Amino acid sequence: MTSGDLSRRRFFAQAAVASVGMTVPMSVEPGAPEADGLVEVAFTVNGKGERLRVDPRITLLDALRERLELTGTKKGCDRGQCGACTVHVDGRRVLSCLTLVATMDGKRLTTIEGLAKGDRLHPVQQAFIDCDGFQCGFCTPGQIMSAVAVLREGHAKSDEEIREAMSGNICRCGAYPNIVEAVKQARS
Ligand code: FES
Ligand code: FES
Repeated sequence: MTSGDLSRRRFFAQAAVASVGMTVPMSVEPGAPEADGLVEVAFTVNGKGERLRVDPRITLLDALRERLELTGTKKGCDRGQCGACTVHVDGRRVLSCLTLVATMDGKRLTTIEGLAKGDRLHPVQQAFIDCDGFQCGFCTPGQIMSAVAVLREGHAKSDEEIREAMSGNICRCGAYPNIVEAVKQARS
């Protein structure tokens, strides 16, 4: 055996040891159950009970749209700046893009799909139609969910108060004057 053969063997032996050293800590014990890291969460949406196993990092917005196919709630900025994703949780306004679905266990949710009673629109929905409170309509579900909450909270006593209370809902089409009119009509 030449000294070249010896050093080649030593090289491969060292490589094998190094490779085992790197892989052993990451190996899974045979027969051990794989932890999937999912969490179970149960809540009601629009009066219907739902139970999901979810990645704890998933937002309520993505769970509503992608798991429950409730696509009326819109994804605008996905970072809490536009209000398009507004839903109600236990009667209060929530930005679903900033809310983890894992925190919704036992909660009562309402989305835009849950406002109408059969064919009868919610008064705020009807007011948005009557007052042309939208153009492209992308922001409208979030606007309507906010308006319903604003009226319930009693924060719609004047135009200024409505504008202030609805200021988290951005409308790129600039339908603000008509949105204020719609909230006033619904109030009355
Ligand atoms: Fe949630 Fe814009 S999508 S605030
Ligand atoms: Fe188009 Fe508001 S109606 S963004």
